[in-house]
Amino acid sequence: MNYYIGIDLGTSAMKLLLTDENGHIYNTVSKGYPLEFPKDGWCEQNAQDWKKALFEGLPELLNGFDASCVKGIGCGGQMHGLVALDENDEPIRPVILWNDSRTVKEVDKLNYETGKKRLSEWTANIAFAGFTAPKLLWMKKNEPLNFAKISKIMLPKDYINYILTGVHSCDHSDASGTLLYCVEKKCWSKQMLDICDVSEAQMPTLFESYECIGKLKTEVAMRLGIPDTVKVCAGASDNAAAAIGMGVVGDGGCNISLGTSGTVFISSKNFSVDKNNSLHSFAHADGGYHLLGCILSAASCNKWLTEDIFKSHDYSYEEKHITYDKLGENRVFFLPYLMGERSPINDPNARGCFIGMTMNTSRTDLAQAVLEGVAFAIRDNLEVARNLGIEIKSSRICGGGARSSLWKQIISNVLNIELESSETEQGPAMGGAMLAMICCGEYPDAQAVCTKMMSVSSVVKPTPELSAKYETRYQQFKKIYPALKNIFEKI
Ligand code: XUL
Repeated sequence: MNYYIGIDLGTSAMKLLLTDENGHIYNTVSKGYPLEFPKDGWCEQNAQDWKKALFEGLPELLNGFDASCVKGIGCGGQMHGLVALDENDEPIRPVILWNDSRTVKEVDKLNYETGKKRLSEWTANIAFAGFTAPKLLWMKKNEPLNFAKISKIMLPKDYINYILTGVHSCDHSDASGTLLYCVEKKCWSKQMLDICDVSEAQMPTLFESYECIGKLKTEVAMRLGIPDTVKVCAGASDNAAAAIGMGVVGDGGCNISLGTSGTVFISSKNFSVDKNNSLHSFAHADGGYHLLGCILSAASCNKWLTEDIFKSHDYSYEEKHITYDKLGENRVFFLPYLMGERSPINDPNARGCFIGMTMNTSRTDLAQAVLEGVAFAIRDNLEVARNLGIEIKSSRICGGGARSSLWKQIISNVLNIELESSETEQGPAMGGAMLAMICCGEYPDAQAVCTKMMSVSSVVKPTPELSAKYETRYQQFKKIYPALKNIFEKI
């Protein structure tokens, strides 16, 4: 028997998983780390915290198991974060994360001076506040001394791969979210590197997600008690890794992830671009491509309301009071833009708000409005895909929020599609391990490993009455943001 390790470098925690070549899970470990919000709309993390999580998490994961059976490691990770390393490969400053919206000016400069048309021709995408290129421009302007020290530009999971192997690598799915990369030709974009004043030598080497970037460094292997023959694959963005973990490969599959962010991931064999660039056009970890819609705050809205506002950790208490008869009847709306919003409105100034409260509004109405507001924002993304002629009748669903059957029921009815869950629900970590299995020759490709491992364990179906009620509510929800857009700009 061979063991494989999957790692998900998430926004709130690193999740590690030990599986065999058949997908049987032997152990999982989660190591949390803090997020820093130094200013409104800013979001940073310390790369040293990830390293600590790795070196504490791996021995814990392998405790009681024969580490000599480990053959491969694969990592999926939060996208877009700027990990800037100096000439000693030490992080120069805290990592600026995917949901940080400090780069409003840089994004405008790229979209309106360089121009969306050219950006889209070069990279298949336009600028969004969380993407890596605007962060480089921000750093150049605001921290010129730090900028001058940059020797390598890495993405979060690539920093983990570097710690493990000493190799500066990046895979195509994660490179896609930098806006420094040509998705169609699968190479760094010379034009964008020039605009950001960085050279190709400062960029990591590109690989397919399932390719081997190297073996474990001897000192790391010794420290962890794992053989130094263990192969590390390039891994993938968390969304692409989750799609692999959920069996969404090839043409026309859909996966919704309800993590800190909420994403709609539509896989395809061929390269394509949304002509309005509302959905991102990215490479997939299976060697193909995908379209991605991303809302910046999904399960994090529920966490914010429950933990920060209600001062509770009891999520089931809130949900217990949202009974079936209340679904589709709530007169309170919630806009989930607590960190601004990415897709499809691309507005870093947008803010979260409750609308429609009366003296009769209860705590339960607010909790319900949050679950519904996230579902409506996900629907906004699905509508963009539908307008592109993409027909989505069902989707896989994963991420922490997908553990709530109530939330899945709401989302299924708001989107009016069936939602399929898998028993393991280990999205990106399982996807990482599956990529490592391809890398080590257990399976020829992503389709083969998905066919073997992924099975749907439950399906939530919409009902005609409830989806009709939610249709009316969604049409009302859609009018709120345009009415507030100018106000958000001012506040
Ligand atoms: C996708 C995105 C998020 C992060 C979260 O574009 O920004 O889904 O990857 O981990």
